[in-house]
Amino acid sequence: MIEIDWAEEAGRLRASAEGEADWNRMVAAGVVRAGDKVAVDVGCGGGGMAKALSEALPAGATVVAIDADPDVLEQAREHTGGAVRCELVSMDSGAEPLRKAIDAPADLIWASASVHHAADQQAAVDALASLLAPGGRLALAEGGLPARSLPWDLGVGEPGLELRLDAAQDRWFKVMRDSLPGSVPLPYGWTEALTRAGLVEVTTQSILSETPAPLSPERLEQVVHGFRARVDRLNPEVTDLIVGHGQGHGHGHSVPLDAEGLSAEDLATWELLLDPEGEHYLGRRSDLAVLSVRSIHLGHAAR
Ligand SMILES: C[S@@+](CC[C@H](N)C(=O)[O-])C[C@H]1O[C@@H](n2cnc3c(N)ncnc32)[C@H](O)[C@@H]1O
Repeated sequence: MIEIDWAEEAGRLRASAEGEADWNRMVAAGVVRAGDKVAVDVGCGGGGMAKALSEALPAGATVVAIDADPDVLEQAREHTGGAVRCELVSMDSGAEPLRKAIDAPADLIWASASVHHAADQQAAVDALASLLAPGGRLALAEGGLPARSLPWDLGVGEPGLELRLDAAQDRWFKVMRDSLPGSVPLPYGWTEALTRAGLVEVTTQSILSETPAPLSPERLEQVVHGFRARVDRLNPEVTDLIVGHGQGHGHGHSVPLDAEGLSAEDLATWELLLDPEGEHYLGRRSDLAVLSVRSIHLGHAAR
C-alpha cells in the first residue's frame, strides 16, 4: 500500500514551485485571457502556478490556491506572499466546499498533477467543471512524455537506467492509485474526462522544454535532488512499497521487488550515482540535460 504523506513532500513541492517559475510564467501567459477575473490553482503544491497566475492577471483579479494539505498550503502561502488567497479543501469532498472556497464562478481553473491524486478523478473533473463561469476554462496538466536527463550509458551499472526508473515509477503509480480509499479507475484519457464533464472545445497542447548540457550548478542540483526523491520513493527500505494481496483498497498488489520496483542492482547503481562523496556522483557531470514534454488538456464551459 502506498499512502503519500503530503506534509513530508511540502518542502520538495516548494522547491519545485521555485525551480519551475519560468515554465509557470510562460504557461500562465498563454492560458490567461483578457477579462479573466478569477483564477484557481487546485492541488497547488508550493503555489508555483498560483503565483504565476497572480502576476499574469490584471490588478484586482482574484487568484485562489487550493490544496488538501495544511503544510503544503502553508508553503504556497509563503511562496505567493499574500498575492493569492489560500484555501484548505479536498477535491474528494465534491463541488460545494470548492465552490464556497472560490466564492465566485472561475474564469480559469488550473490543476497540475493533482487530479490524478483524487480518489474519483472523473468526479473531481466534474466538480471543477461545475465551478466555471460561462466560457471559463479548465486546464489539466497531466502526463506528457517521460523527462530525459541522463545519457543512456553512464559508465556504471546497466545502460538504460533512466528508462527502468520510469517503468518502476509507472508501476508505483498503479499501486498508489489502487491504495487510495474509494479509488475509482479512469479507463480513458483526460480529453474524454473533460468532455464527459460537459466541457466543449476540448483540446491538448504539449509543451517541450529543453535545457541542454552542461546544466548550471543550480539546475544540476535540482535534477540530482529530483532523482534522489524518485529513487527513495521506489526504495522499499525508505518507502512502504509492497502490500500483500487484498490489503490495499481496490486491487491488492504483491509482486516481488525485482518485478515490481527497481531491481537491487539498479538501486545499488543509483546509490553510487547519488552519493556526493563517491566517484560516480551525478552532481559533478557535465553531460546531464533536461528534456521534458508536459501536456495541458483544456476544456471550455459553454457560453
Ligand atoms: C504532485 S503534487 C502537484 C503540485 C503542483 N500542482 C505542481 O504541479 O507542482 C499534488 C498536489 O495535490 C495535492 N492533493 C492531493 N490530493 C488532493 C485532493 N484530494 N484535493 C486537493 N489537493 C490534493 C497535494 O497536497 C499536492 O500539493
